[in-house]
Amino acid sequence: MSEILTPPPLPLLRVEGLCQYFKTPDGRTVHAVESLTFDIKRGSTVGLVGESGSGKTTAGRAILRLLEPTSGKVFFDNTDVLALPPKAMKRYRQKMQIIFQDPFSSLNPRMKVAQIIAEALNTCGFPTGEARKKRIEALLIQVGLQPEHADRYPHEFSGGQRQRIGIARAIAVEPDFIVADESVSALDVSVQAQVLNLLGELQESLGLTLLFIAHDLSVVEYLCDEVIVMYLGRVMERGPCREVYSRPRHPYTQALLSAAPIPDPTKKKQRIVLKGDIPSPISPPSGCVFRTRCPSATDACARNIPQEQQVNDEHWVSCVRLHELNHQG
Ligand SMILES: Nc1ncnc2c1ncn2[C@@H]1O[C@H](COP(=O)(O)OP(=O)(O)OP(=O)(O)O)[C@@H](O)[C@H]1O
Ligand SMILES: [Mg+2]
Repeated sequence: MSEILTPPPLPLLRVEGLCQYFKTPDGRTVHAVESLTFDIKRGSTVGLVGESGSGKTTAGRAILRLLEPTSGKVFFDNTDVLALPPKAMKRYRQKMQIIFQDPFSSLNPRMKVAQIIAEALNTCGFPTGEARKKRIEALLIQVGLQPEHADRYPHEFSGGQRQRIGIARAIAVEPDFIVADESVSALDVSVQAQVLNLLGELQESLGLTLLFIAHDLSVVEYLCDEVIVMYLGRVMERGPCREVYSRPRHPYTQALLSAAPIPDPTKKKQRIVLKGDIPSPISPPSGCVFRTRCPSATDACARNIPQEQQVNDEHWVSCVRLHELNHQG
C-alpha cells in the first residue's frame, strides 16, 4: 500500500526578503533590516536575538506593518499583509499584536487600566456595557492581577504588574500572533521569571504564536522553540533552539553563546570576545557584514555575500566559511 504523504502545515507567518531602510536627514540610507526571511509555525514561540542595533525592533515593527517596509513580503495566515488595503489591514491588526519593551512608557499615565484595555477593545467592537466590564475583569485575572485593579492608574503598579497590563491589552482582542519586544528586559530577574511564565502559560492556553525579541539568550532558550540570530539587519543563523544552542554553526552565534552565563558551574567554556562595536547600518561592511568582528574571517568573507545554507532540516546558516569551519575538529 502506498503511503499517503500529507504536506507540512503552512506556517502562520512567512517573512520573505523583508527590507526596511530609513533615510537620514542628510540623505543617506540606513539598512536597518536587509533581506529577512523566515517562517513561524502556528502555536510556536520564536526568539529573535542579536546585539543592540541589529534590527530586531525594526523587524518586529515591519512585520506588523507598524512601519511600511521598503520591500519584501509578509504572509500572515497565507495573506500578503503588505498588499492589504487599509480597511482589510485593520482586521489583521487585531490578529497581530505587540507588547512593548518598556512597561513605564507604553501605558498612557492619564488612563485607568480599564480605559487602557477598553481602548484596545474599541478597535474591534468587542463587548460593550456590563459584558465589557466583565471581560476586562476576566482579562486582569488571566494575567495575574485583580479585578479591582481596573480602577487604578499605571503609576500605582510595579514594573512587572505594568507589563501584565500590557499583556492584558495585547490579548484583549484575541490575537493569533504577538510580537513581544524585550518585554521582560526592563524588569528584575525574579519578576522577569514570573512574566515569562505568564507568557508561556498564555501562549499554551490561548494557542498563541509568539515572536519574542530578546538580548538574553538564556531567556530565549527557556521560552522558545526556535531562535533567529540577527546581526546588522541580517539573519546569521536560525533553527530549533535545542540544535542551535547545542551546536551553533555561525561564529556570531558561537560568540553570543560563549558570553552567556551557563547554569552548570562544572562546565567550562571558552569565551569568544568580539572586538569593537557593531558597524553602522549606513555603510555596512562588504561581503559578510559580520566579517569585521569575526574571529574566523578571511579575504573571501570581504568579497562574498554569504548565501543562507541549510545544515539540517530547519537549521539555516549564512556564513561564507560554513563548511571549512565546521569540518575542522
Ligand atoms: N526611524 C529610524 N530612522 C533611522 N534609523 C533608524 C530608525 N529606527 C531604527 N533605526 C536604526 O536601525 C538600526 C536597527 O535599530 P533597532 O532599533 O531595530 O535595533 P534593535 O536590534 O532593536 O536594538 P536594541 O537591542 O537596542 O533594541 C539601528 O542602527 C537604528 O539606529
Ligand atoms: Mg529593540
